[in-house]
Amino acid sequence: MKSDGLLLVEDSESTAMLYETWLGPLGERITIAHTGSRALAWLERHTPSVILLDMHLPDMEGMDILRLVRKRELSCEVIVITADTSHLLASRAVHEGAQDFLVKPVDAERLRVSVSNALRTHKLEHLASDLAAQMGAAPPAGFCGSSIQMRALYHTLRLVAHSDAPVFISGESGTGKELCARAIHDHGKRSKQAFVAVNCAAMPAELVESQLFGHVKGAFTGAVAHRVGLTEEADGGTLFLDEVTELTLEAQSKLLRFLQTGEITPVGASGRKHLNCRVVCATNLDIRHQVERGLFREDLFYRLHVVPLTVPPLRERGEDVLEIGTKLLQLNAARENKRFHSLGDSARQLLLTYPWPGNIRELENIIRHAVVMHDAELLEAAHISLPENNGNDVEGNADRPHPEILPLWQVEQEAIERALNLCQGNVGRAAELLQVAPSTLYRRLRTRPP
Ligand SMILES: Nc1ncnc2c1ncn2[C@@H]1O[C@H](COP(=O)(O)OP(=O)(O)OP(=O)(O)O)[C@@H](O)[C@H]1O
Ligand SMILES: [Mg+2]
Repeated sequence: MKSDGLLLVEDSESTAMLYETWLGPLGERITIAHTGSRALAWLERHTPSVILLDMHLPDMEGMDILRLVRKRELSCEVIVITADTSHLLASRAVHEGAQDFLVKPVDAERLRVSVSNALRTHKLEHLASDLAAQMGAAPPAGFCGSSIQMRALYHTLRLVAHSDAPVFISGESGTGKELCARAIHDHGKRSKQAFVAVNCAAMPAELVESQLFGHVKGAFTGAVAHRVGLTEEADGGTLFLDEVTELTLEAQSKLLRFLQTGEITPVGASGRKHLNCRVVCATNLDIRHQVERGLFREDLFYRLHVVPLTVPPLRERGEDVLEIGTKLLQLNAARENKRFHSLGDSARQLLLTYPWPGNIRELENIIRHAVVMHDAELLEAAHISLPENNGNDVEGNADRPHPEILPLWQVEQEAIERALNLCQGNVGRAAELLQVAPSTLYRRLRTRPP
């Protein structure tokens, strides 16, 4: 990673020199620009790790430079320095992507801490994007989303596809566990053979054995014909055991025997058959907890849980929800003959804040519903109907006569939480933004609502 050090944009020569001396110990190359236009000219050909930006420059406002840096997607951290203590300016700067906000006069220690934090953030971001680049960004068929979590998952899927080791997929409902199982199959050497998905929750306990391993004619009442089991159908290919925790303990022991020997005996048959199928399992439960509670055999768990794989919930995938939402919007618009082509600002905001308990399946339903019920070019929040209790509700809100008016303690608490998040938990800086003394903030943090 090549970086052009620090860029210090400050019109006062003496202040710039002072900062330069203070930052010397950090060992970064420092370039000084005394005007906005010089800074911009330099940025045409260089990318610093960090820009220290004075807000008030002789030829332009620092905010314009900040905006330009973001518009050009320069990968550098910006620390804003100003004599203006207005919290509005601070929140605008942070909104425009500034990493930190220092009020003049700045002291040496505060400046060094802020710059070294920014350098660390910059390094981490680069590591993450290098890692993502190494992983190959293209999602497997059916997947959409380029968050770092998903790119890591795509990489793992491709790696495990080449092996025959059992894969155990965990993840909340609707996150794409079955899609992962298919991707493993499709990218591996078995892709020309069968992929057999078995929903363990849907098999009646008394029929599990015959469904999995088959039966011969007359093996039991109702066995009017010979039946090939699902394991045999998957011979040479992949057997996907969905909701595997739903198998009864008896069925689990039969499955274990098959995994240990690779052999099956269809119900009522005398001979054994040797099969070769790769096993992939999935569950939305905490499998270790099921083992601890004695509901899932520990020996089977160790057989299946060779390569564990976790599919992250949609709410943890950042802007993936917008990517997937847009794709679903266009797909459904084409299907329903509607004009929708993109998400409007209000819809983007809503999709980003809703917690998606039903994950992508829920997103699919909500977008489909919106497209069926409305028609426009942009999808807006007003077109979207989310379940009443969407998890954003604070407990008890629904019982109040005017739920749109929040209790003061709650407004205050939310403001404090927002400020703390912006300042990465730094109470002193959060207090500065909220224009209260740090001691007030500490007190409010300790006092919990009624
Ligand atoms: N990353 C993704 N991009 C686009 N569509 C996705 C993605 N992940 C999942 N889907 C879609 O979301 C739906 C749910 O996926 P899938 O059935 O694989 O989830 P699941 O985890 O098995 O759900 P459940 O726990 O309910 O069985 C499917 O229609 C799938 O195609
Ligand atoms: Mg599933």
